[in-house]
Amino acid sequence: MWPDSLAFGGDYNPDQWPEDVWNEDISLMRAAGVNLVTIGVFAWSIIEPEAGRYDFSWLDRVIDTLHAGGIGVDLATATATPPPWLIAGHPEIKPVTADGVRLEFGSRQGYCPSSPIFRDHAVALVRELADRYGTHPAVRLWHISNEYGDHITECFCDVSQEHFRRWLAERYGTVGALNDAWGTRHWGQVYGSIDQIPAPRRMPGPANPSHLLDWRRFSSDALLELLRAETSVLRDVTPNVPVTTNFMSMFYSLDYWRFAAELDVVTDDAYPDPADPHAHLDAARNYDLMRSLGRRKPWLLLEQAPSAVSWRPINVPKRPGIMRLGSYQAIARGSDGALFFQWRAPRFGSELHHSTMLPAAGTETRIFREITVLGTELAAIDEVAGTRITADAAIILDWDNWWALDADESMPSVLMRWRAALQPFYRALYHAGVTIDFVRPDDDLAEYRLVVAPNSYLLREADANRWNAYVAAGGTLLVGPFSGVVNGDAHAHCGGAPGPLADLLGVRVDEAWPLAENASAAIDIAGSVDTATIWTEWLRAADADVVGAYTGGVLDGLPALTRKKHGAGSAWYVSYLPVDAGPVCDLVLAACGIVPAPDGIERVERSDGTTSYLFLLNHGDTAVDAAAPVGEDLITGAVSAGQLRLPPRGVAIVRHGAAAAAATRGDNR
Ligand code: GLA
Repeated sequence: MWPDSLAFGGDYNPDQWPEDVWNEDISLMRAAGVNLVTIGVFAWSIIEPEAGRYDFSWLDRVIDTLHAGGIGVDLATATATPPPWLIAGHPEIKPVTADGVRLEFGSRQGYCPSSPIFRDHAVALVRELADRYGTHPAVRLWHISNEYGDHITECFCDVSQEHFRRWLAERYGTVGALNDAWGTRHWGQVYGSIDQIPAPRRMPGPANPSHLLDWRRFSSDALLELLRAETSVLRDVTPNVPVTTNFMSMFYSLDYWRFAAELDVVTDDAYPDPADPHAHLDAARNYDLMRSLGRRKPWLLLEQAPSAVSWRPINVPKRPGIMRLGSYQAIARGSDGALFFQWRAPRFGSELHHSTMLPAAGTETRIFREITVLGTELAAIDEVAGTRITADAAIILDWDNWWALDADESMPSVLMRWRAALQPFYRALYHAGVTIDFVRPDDDLAEYRLVVAPNSYLLREADANRWNAYVAAGGTLLVGPFSGVVNGDAHAHCGGAPGPLADLLGVRVDEAWPLAENASAAIDIAGSVDTATIWTEWLRAADADVVGAYTGGVLDGLPALTRKKHGAGSAWYVSYLPVDAGPVCDLVLAACGIVPAPDGIERVERSDGTTSYLFLLNHGDTAVDAAAPVGEDLITGAVSAGQLRLPPRGVAIVRHGAAAAAATRGDNR
């Protein structure tokens, strides 16, 4: 069982059903190939109906029944929704918005992350669960809370404000150090004591950007403290059961690097919008991030929708084949399985209209048929479990930068946001067939031929020094616009942008030149025209080759795209936000010797070092003859001799490499 095999299953809520349905569930799960279910996510009020009185009887029976059916359990710590008795006894647990509104009970996850009362009760529940089930053979994974930061990412109550002040005192030591770090001389904010510092509730005008940046750091850390409180109990009582908490893909409010460091396995809930023709591009990006967060070990797609969700304004279903294709896409990018929200269609509640593995209409349905096909297929390709992915290129992702760029209310353009900066670069590399890891700004970059910083508005000098060393050692660095502007405290780098990258890139930014909404600018790159949106800069190439120049408009003739060589390495600067970063990326890829494979097929290779599995995914509506290595398609058994026909929304997994070749010769001992 996982992690030695691929996991298949989903959230299971037997507590919402009479027990006579459970046996039918188990036999249908077995028919569909389910081997792992997540249980108890929102069950606190059922497990502990009043303070300190626990009722585990139903959970005992559920876990035993699943175990008898050969189905493993991802057991939730059930702390995602505090029970009504806890809220009634301690209404101060209810979170408060920036406008001072206290949010009422009646939905889910309605707790103040800083509440010691909530935390103490949660930890007590976790200990009970760990003591009772930690050695149960069905329990494969602890599922801590649920989607930290879903619904409530920050709380502005007095308890949170006190917590924020403690966090600041620990970070800065003295109010003087804080005043310096926040630049409080601006607009007359010099504090006399840390006790005077407010949570950044609604203010008359723009807040101090350093205050906002620390508030974002603190709010992420406040939820991280809850995760740590739960993991420490579990590690203490059940050190052999791995722990996870389900992430929400590329999520602004939490520094997932810090969260992932607490986990044994990274898991993700992925809900690409079937109405968005580019959804698979963002999904690929999110899956690359999950793999990277887990230090490139296999991760797990813990939730996805079999078809439509119920929380968008309009919930378009997944066409036939999309659920299967999306599941393989996650596996191609390192997931050791595919799980869903949720198993059986509910009879009540807020998620009545969300698709399920087993629809209300039963087993003779399109969805159940597709689920069963996928479950059967995954059971036959277990050998890919545990294999790894090697990437040639890396993209730098720093939550501090994301927060500094997106939270500041007084920027040159509200359109210049981290996701907007990332998107053209990720998509261009995806279309070129380049596999990408995400890395932190202080990670070791040596193994990558190309490193891209789509935007590094906030850049610490120490990180810039590492990037200098990477290029000096022969690496290729591509830096996107509006980078090297502020330091880790959100103070401007003296001398202007790109700050500590100025010598490496050989450029100076005279002036940020954001474009009006829907305006564009043209850039001439060796005779072909590239288009900028949102952002351009008045740039000087002090000591760099000009590869592309603005053409027309106020910036006509000024450098737009530059390169500075450093021995075998080179540092590129693109001073605008390209609508399509393809032309820029093509030049940079050629310079660092990465050969693009732009045939419209998504290709990712997983390998155990000897045998390799090339995943080929056709997201298009027409069949494609795709180049493929000599080997066997794990799904169909067809042998590829250099080419494979992929039907619309088709998938192939070609096993190749030394061990695979030996296996087809029959001498694999
Ligand atoms: C999230 C939650 C689930 C469920 C799904 C619905 O991922 O974790 O409990 O609400 O969304 O899409």
